[in-house]
Amino acid sequence: MSAVSSPKSPEAVTLESVDLNPYIGTEVLGLDLSQPLDPATIAAMRKLWLDRTVLVFRDQDITQEELLRFTGYFGEVGERGLSATVYPSTAGRVLPNIMLISNIRENGKTIGALPDGEMNFHHDMIQTEKPHIASVLYAREVPSHGGDTCFASGHAAYDTLDPEVRSKLEGKRVFHTYQYGRTKRGDDSGTYDLSDQSAHPAFRTHEENGRKAIYVNRLMSVGVEGMDAKEGEALLNAVFDHAEKPEFVYCHKWKVGDLVIWDNRNSMHARTDFPSDQRRLMWRSQVRGTHKPF
Ligand code: SIN
Repeated sequence: MSAVSSPKSPEAVTLESVDLNPYIGTEVLGLDLSQPLDPATIAAMRKLWLDRTVLVFRDQDITQEELLRFTGYFGEVGERGLSATVYPSTAGRVLPNIMLISNIRENGKTIGALPDGEMNFHHDMIQTEKPHIASVLYAREVPSHGGDTCFASGHAAYDTLDPEVRSKLEGKRVFHTYQYGRTKRGDDSGTYDLSDQSAHPAFRTHEENGRKAIYVNRLMSVGVEGMDAKEGEALLNAVFDHAEKPEFVYCHKWKVGDLVIWDNRNSMHARTDFPSDQRRLMWRSQVRGTHKPF
C-alpha cells in the first residue's frame, strides 16, 4: 500500500492506494465519487493517475451526471466516439458524451457499441487527429466470468523494446484506421467510415511527463509511412508482440460498481472473451485530446 500527497495543495491530501502491477494500475481506496471532490484531492488523484496511468475505484454508486463530473476532473469531457447513426439506440438512453458499451440486445439490435467477446489491444480514438487523452468505464452489469479489460503500459514496452526495432520505427509515422464494430485485426465486418483514419508517431511523447510510449496497436495500426508494406507489417507485429507481454499488463476483473480511468497516451487496452448469453453493460466517458500526438 502506498500514499501520494499533493504538492500543489496548501493542505496536503494523502490518498490511500494499492498498486496492481509494477508498471501500470493502482486502486484508490476511500473515495466516494458520488460526492464532489475538493481541489486538493483532485490534484492528488491527477498526480497519481499521471504516475500510474490506470486508476481503479471499487464499489461506486454514481449517476451519469456524477460520471461526467468525475471525468471533468481530468480535462474537458470529450464527445462520444460513436455516431448516433451507427448505434441509434444509444441516443436517448444516456446523456450526450456518455457511450454505452454493451452486448444487450433489444428487438434484435444491440443497445451499445463494441458488443461481443474478445477485443484486440487498441488506443481509443487513435484514428482521429487529436485522440481522447483518457477514457472512463463504469460497470453496471457484468458477466459471471470473462470480459476483463486489460491495460498495457506503453512506457514499459518502449523502454524495453528491441533496439533494432525501435531504431527502425523511431521518427516514423504509422497509419491507423477504425471501423466501428471491429474487434480484431483484419476483421472488416464493421461499418467503414473514411474519415476514421490518421497518422501519428510510432512512439508518442506524453505531454505531461515527457516520457515516450509505444503508440501503435494490433487493432487499428495498419502501415508505416514511407515503408514497404511487408517490412512495416513485420515491424508492427514485433512491437505488438512485445508490448502485449503479460508483465506489462494489468487485467481488470470487473464487479458492478467498479470505475476505471486510463490514460490513452501511454497505454492500450484489450478485452477478454465472455459468454455471449450473459449481459454486460458499461457506461463510458472520455476526456478530449488537446494536442496532436508528437
Ligand atoms: C473499450 O475499448 O472502450 C471497451 C473495453 C471493454 O469493453 O472492456
